Amino acid sequence: MSTKSKVSPELPLKIRLFISVMTFFVDLSCRPNFTINRRIFNLLDFKSPPSKKPINDVKSSDVTVDASRNLCFRLYTPTQDRDGDSMPIIIFFHGGGFTFMAANSKPYDDFCRRMAREIHSVVVSVNYRLSPEHRCPAQYEDCFDVLKFIDANDSFEGFDNANLKLCFLAGDSAGGNLAHHVAVDANGYEFNRLNLAGLVAIQPFFGGQERTESEINLAGAPFISVERTDWLWKAFLPEGSDRDHPVANVFGPNSKDIKGLKFPPTIVFVGGFDPLKDWQKRYYEGLKKCGKEAYLVEYPNAIHTFYAYPDMPESALFIKELKDFMEKQAK
Ligand SMILES: *[C@@H]1O[C@H](CO)[C@@H](O)[C@H](O)[C@H]1NC(C)=O
Ligand SMILES: *[C@@H]1O[C@H](CO)[C@@H](O)[C@H](O)[C@H]1NC(C)=O
Repeated sequence: MSTKSKVSPELPLKIRLFISVMTFFVDLSCRPNFTINRRIFNLLDFKSPPSKKPINDVKSSDVTVDASRNLCFRLYTPTQDRDGDSMPIIIFFHGGGFTFMAANSKPYDDFCRRMAREIHSVVVSVNYRLSPEHRCPAQYEDCFDVLKFIDANDSFEGFDNANLKLCFLAGDSAGGNLAHHVAVDANGYEFNRLNLAGLVAIQPFFGGQERTESEINLAGAPFISVERTDWLWKAFLPEGSDRDHPVANVFGPNSKDIKGLKFPPTIVFVGGFDPLKDWQKRYYEGLKKCGKEAYLVEYPNAIHTFYAYPDMPESALFIKELKDFMEKQAK
């Protein structure tokens, strides 16, 4: 028997191959001088077009918010009518370390369509600008501007049955980080109609100068390594900052106190084989300490990005948990 602790669960061959190809291309496209070779990464970042013709009972379209910075979102609308019921809105921020992927990347297109269908909700998947070409805070501004746009203008096709009072911010990995800060920023803004009913942080990307136990003990786990996350923070954070910058270390030495701020009920999803899990649990504990309503869901056997593989049992559990959380907030 090996004395080294396990850093990955048994994974189907298809998923293992996907992960090794992805990480190979990620590592190949990240240059030592913190620029990125987009040409290389784009070779495997397959894109899906929007489809007015329903695919799996969901139609999709792209809506432009600001053409000058290529800011848009992909809108997913379930087509199965349930008596014209109004549907909650999930404003989704995709992951990829602030650096990779887009709203139209195939894995995210599939994932958002699945959420729309299985949770019977309208999904707005934000195509924010990427680092290192655009550093922090460009991503936060883009995401927030999409909220403002929807608050001011919901008269576009596919949004007829969307309920602005039931708006959920959601994001995976870097997208979970974006969702948190957008919820904080919402305190300085008065929406006319939009109401933040909840926040869904799926394996959110947080960090700090410290090395946590899970970062050390899970060296070699799928997708996440401190070498990769250090690179991503460096390419994303304002020049000259370290990982204790308040956008990365949200309950760290430089963070601002959110006790007095309005913050929506939050559910945090954590995977046992994710090296980032200690930062994510601290995030949950930080919210609780500030008196916020927060829930932690941990799947011991889950890796980073587990939700994206419908074949994995935790992926179905995640959808069910998310649905329950959203229904609870709707009451
Ligand atoms: C970074 O490295 C690449 C490839 O070596 C080079 O083409 C590019 O000019 C460098 N950029 C900066 C800002 O140093
Ligand atoms: C609302 O959005 C639609 C679709 O993008 C656009 O055609 C229209 O000009 C927008 N209206 C306002 C007031 O921004």
